[in-house]
Amino acid sequence: MADGTKPPDRPVNNRPANNGPANNGPANNGPARQELQRGGEAVYRPRYAHIVGWGSYVPEKVITNHDLEQIVDTNDEWIRSRTGIAERHVAADPKETSVTLAVAAARKALEVADVPAGKIDLIVCATTTPEYAFPATACLIQDALGADNAGAFDLSAACSGFVYGLAMARGQILAGDAEYVLVIGTETLSRIVDWTDRGTCILFGDGAGAVLVAASEVPGGILAVDLGSDGSGGNTLILPAGGSALPTSLETVSSGMHYLKMDGKAVFRFATRVMAASTRKVLTRAGYTPEEVDLVVPHQANLRIIQNSVLNQLKIPEEKVFINLEKYGNTSTASIPIALCEAIAAGKLRTGHKVVFVGFGAGLTWAACAIDWRTPIDKAEADWWKNTRRQATYSAAAARSMWRRAVRWVYDVLPDPEAKGQDARRDREETGVQEGADEEG
Ligand code: ACO
Repeated sequence: MADGTKPPDRPVNNRPANNGPANNGPANNGPARQELQRGGEAVYRPRYAHIVGWGSYVPEKVITNHDLEQIVDTNDEWIRSRTGIAERHVAADPKETSVTLAVAAARKALEVADVPAGKIDLIVCATTTPEYAFPATACLIQDALGADNAGAFDLSAACSGFVYGLAMARGQILAGDAEYVLVIGTETLSRIVDWTDRGTCILFGDGAGAVLVAASEVPGGILAVDLGSDGSGGNTLILPAGGSALPTSLETVSSGMHYLKMDGKAVFRFATRVMAASTRKVLTRAGYTPEEVDLVVPHQANLRIIQNSVLNQLKIPEEKVFINLEKYGNTSTASIPIALCEAIAAGKLRTGHKVVFVGFGAGLTWAACAIDWRTPIDKAEADWWKNTRRQATYSAAAARSMWRRAVRWVYDVLPDPEAKGQDARRDREETGVQEGADEEG
């Protein structure tokens, strides 16, 4: 996209904007970063965290409610009326994983922002379906993108994870520790869902969404965040086996403990309560009233949860709440960024809009953020040269990754001269002891 995607630079304000914690400050008063100029004079530069790029990706394969009727005892009418979901995308190809979905979404976000992967300082990957317990999914994404200057870590806050990730990005940027942070939500929930359990398998879908958050001196961006948790409800939504409490065994697999388990009613009650409360909190922190909000992008779990919380309790009108769960089901950490991309494509978001993201999930967790959206939405003309260059950098990243693996392999197979010396010394010593022992004998 055009360079104009980034918030335009403004003249540097050389007075502190606000030295207190950003959360407590009024809207548009981000914290200042102090920089020592030549001669020792302190200059204060205001810093704000703006979303400047966005992208999403869902696998091709679609499973409709009618398809599910063939698998479990359910029907389209029940699923639609209780959840609002009509279909969901699933990663049917085993080669599609949380990493491949995330990389596809992240590349789009970088393209929109027109920022090369080499400029990313940090990658935060929120996921409930990581590629492995370790290494972090974020590190594998870093390698695939060729983001050689980025730190990377995974964030486990279930469906609230994407907003938690935005909070981390904002914190890094306002502290002056990062210029660009890539926040990703990616899921292959179809791999942890029990396809014989009609209470859960109808709800979830696969997909990924990503945003690039950038530092800027332009007031606005992510103004306020609210993060919450209540571990006492941890067992209401849980994947019991595979961790230290219940390591994987024949028994855990045969009893299906490696699948997601949920007390749907308890989660429903909790979600309707926290979605409204958390939204209220960030609105107050940002200095907005519910009437002023232009767009709410809620976690897309269940239409009735959104209706009972954001719409009914906060009295935010339906046209200001973006809902796309009918097509995707609950994609957990990916649901908000996927919905954001669709809201942008549908023309629901404009520069100057007051936006709220709000989610809830396993943990139990909840999170909301309020955004003063300043990034232009206009779509730039496709630039073949930039596209070619971008493709070339991704190919180079793949080649670099292969080279690094090859070098590690060579180190593994070649005899290590130092180790060889140590072996020889140990052999001599052992022989010496043996000889000594023989002599004594
Ligand atoms: N098809 C047909 N009937 C069903 C189905 C189905 N798929 N699932 C359950 N039923 C039946 C039940 O067996 C029950 O029958 P019974 O009355 O004879 O016992 C009846 O329908 C009602 O079941 P409930 O569980 O009471 O249905 P409810 O209205 O609570 O809806 C649902 C269930 C959709 C799961 C709802 O509770 C919900 O959405 N909860 C929140 C879940 C959620 O959002 N989870 C994601 C959290 S995000 C994360 O971190 C991953």
